[in-house]
Amino acid sequence: MSQAALYLDYAATTPTDPLVREAMLPFLGESFGNPSSVHRVGQEVRRALDNARDVLAAAIGAESGEIYFTSGGTEANNLALFGVLMAAKEQGRNHLITNPAEHHAVLDAALFARELGFEVTIVPVDEFGMLHPEALAEALTDKTALVSVMHANNEVGTINPIVELAKLTHERGALFHTDAVQTLGALPLDVTALGVDLMSVSSHKIYGPKGVGALYIKSGVKCSPLFHGGSQERQKRPGTENVPGIVGFGKAVSLLPEWREATTARLLPLRDSFITRFPQAFLNGHPTERLASNINLSFVKPDGETMLLALDLWGICASSGSACSSGSIDPSHVLTAMGVPRERALGAVRFSLGRHTTPEEIEKAVGTVQRLVESGLSL
Ligand SMILES: Cc1ncc(COP(=O)(O)O)c(C=O)c1O
Repeated sequence: MSQAALYLDYAATTPTDPLVREAMLPFLGESFGNPSSVHRVGQEVRRALDNARDVLAAAIGAESGEIYFTSGGTEANNLALFGVLMAAKEQGRNHLITNPAEHHAVLDAALFARELGFEVTIVPVDEFGMLHPEALAEALTDKTALVSVMHANNEVGTINPIVELAKLTHERGALFHTDAVQTLGALPLDVTALGVDLMSVSSHKIYGPKGVGALYIKSGVKCSPLFHGGSQERQKRPGTENVPGIVGFGKAVSLLPEWREATTARLLPLRDSFITRFPQAFLNGHPTERLASNINLSFVKPDGETMLLALDLWGICASSGSACSSGSIDPSHVLTAMGVPRERALGAVRFSLGRHTTPEEIEKAVGTVQRLVESGLSL
């Protein structure tokens, strides 16, 4: 990070923890073996991989054999959707349900599934971006193979009622997937308590390396592979493993108890003090059922992109929506799905807080945003 940067974009990515970096280093050097090799050089690496799997499994209340490492949250989501849809065809189920506030890694995958001939229902969300059980109940049919609803939204931080949604889904004999990429570092996650069959997580949102994630697939759930090749990840994800990445992810997961709950508790008042300082702005997302790290405000003026550029000049890093869509002048698909009018959606700025966010940083950011709003943005 450059010296002067005040980073408030932790939902886009997080800095790699130095302990994670240290844990990875041997696997970029002397521990170079292929974990599939039978010899000692390979088996030493295999043990590190197994350890990372055990650590992640324990952290989410799963069995080690239910964890499949992937290249990140995007691949985990695609594997969940297409893997289940392809496998469910045999049982005569070809219907996928999701909602328009999902990350593109689910939403665009769902739209592609429709192009491939699967039946896809996009159930509307409410004004906070939340999917209601009643809305899901109306869409479920005996042909539904999978319901995919994100745990917490990456743009507006709204937390969905996963337990109820999963229960309804199971009552109709379908499977439930949740994208928990934004919640692994925010809330305690237990796959049994949540009642999910598949769950996606990603390393770079929890101070681990980029390009690695995992899909939890409950034992017995049928999910076909997307790739075909070797027998890695029990043939669900062939290809020689990203060993340094997986080891780093495992280390990042092992550090969660040291900071996750404490950080959430510390960020809550910081988030709320930031929001209350802008009574003239609209808060996007649920007022209470939202991540402690998420502030998404629409300023009447200036527009979000101009605000972002101005903030950057003042050394403050924020986002106008999901990182993947910044640079686009279209309003965020999440805000649009919530029924936010175009102008207000274009005025949205997301500040996402993290482990290193201090009260002083929040004060500085609030002061800068206030000056920019008052100035009408004459820099
Ligand atoms: C909710 C959500 N899902 C999926 C992803 C994609 O994860 P990855 O960057 O690991 O592919 C992101 C990342 O922005 C996200 O926020």
